Amino acid sequence: MALKTGRGASAPPFLVMDVITAANARQAALPPGAPHVIRMEVGQPGTGAPAGAVAAAQAALRDGRPMGYTEAFGLASLRARIAAHGHDWYGVAVAPARVAVTVGASGAFPLAFLAAFDPGDRVAMATPFYPPYVNILTALGMVPVMLETGPDTRFQPTVAMLERLDPRPDGLIVASPCNPAGTMLDPAELATIAHWCDANGVRLISDEIYHGLHYDRPLATAAAFSPSAIVVNSFSKYFSMTGWRIGWMVLPEDLVRPVECLAQNMFISAPHIAQVAAEAAFDCTAELEANVAAYRRSRDLLLRALPGCGFDDLSPAEGAFYIYADVSGRTNDSRAFCARMLAEAGVAASPGVDFDRTRGQRFVRFSYCGPEADMAAAAARLARWR
Ligand SMILES: Cc1ncc(COP(=O)(O)O)c(C=O)c1O
Repeated sequence: MALKTGRGASAPPFLVMDVITAANARQAALPPGAPHVIRMEVGQPGTGAPAGAVAAAQAALRDGRPMGYTEAFGLASLRARIAAHGHDWYGVAVAPARVAVTVGASGAFPLAFLAAFDPGDRVAMATPFYPPYVNILTALGMVPVMLETGPDTRFQPTVAMLERLDPRPDGLIVASPCNPAGTMLDPAELATIAHWCDANGVRLISDEIYHGLHYDRPLATAAAFSPSAIVVNSFSKYFSMTGWRIGWMVLPEDLVRPVECLAQNMFISAPHIAQVAAEAAFDCTAELEANVAAYRRSRDLLLRALPGCGFDDLSPAEGAFYIYADVSGRTNDSRAFCARMLAEAGVAASPGVDFDRTRGQRFVRFSYCGPEADMAAAAARLARWR
């Protein structure tokens, strides 16, 4: 007898992962000495964890510190350090009691969504979007509502777009800098959106995972503008610790205990050893800022070079490590286009279809978090390939 499967069993793949698999396969099939595949599809820093974080983990293991469960919201010392970070970076006072350490930002999303929304609730976000927002919401029975954005609003949502929604959504996800467009909301824009959400009973979730990776625009946290916003952040990007799987949330008072109960049941805690390392990463500013400087150089190089390679309609790349290119002048099938670019130029990039189900066929996302020399080599290869 056929067994039933649940709603989550039909979650679509995160297609970037399929592109990564194709790039791995191509690299493995290359003859010895052939130029390597340049990886511009991945969204993870090419650098490792900062030395101080690694040293803290090594010391904890060497000392034989037992690595058990921590409290569901994490080590008290790490929570205090994250709260202090809120003060240091944004001048915002955050009580450590509102900080929840999570299994990456990815682990924060189901906790936040389950605590804030019910099945059937409508949660708005800009298109293009980070695919797991939609896929997790859908698996949980919530309804993603798309706000179609373009270069005119730097791929970010506006209050005017929200005002047009009828009925009003129950929630809104914003990301600044965002993935895939790499664009930002100015502090005043974020404040306006946060105030609109509060005035309209809309729960704001602000994904701030790319904070620290911003190049020429000012930065603000939603925690500065709304006591009811949920802020999500992570050690995966600026802190260069993707595989350590540590993120955090700053929670509004009303959701602290509900999220704690969910976290106790769903995860027990984030990995203890990784929490120790993450806390030490706050003392690694010089190394982390050197990474940011390298991203900035790669970004500047690509923004200069890509137009000469036939990619002349680019997002402004204000933050994160992504450039979103409108390739409609060259293709209406970005998946096939990326497959050809990989096969013929040896450059892997992500087709926009993952991020935008209606217009994604005309966009490609280039990620520039790989080695600097690779980014220069990619520009040279793409210029020859055009
Ligand atoms: C916008 C955004 N949010 C969240 C995540 C998840 O990050 P992690 O779970 O590694 O903290 C990513 C990863 O690429 C991302 O791009």
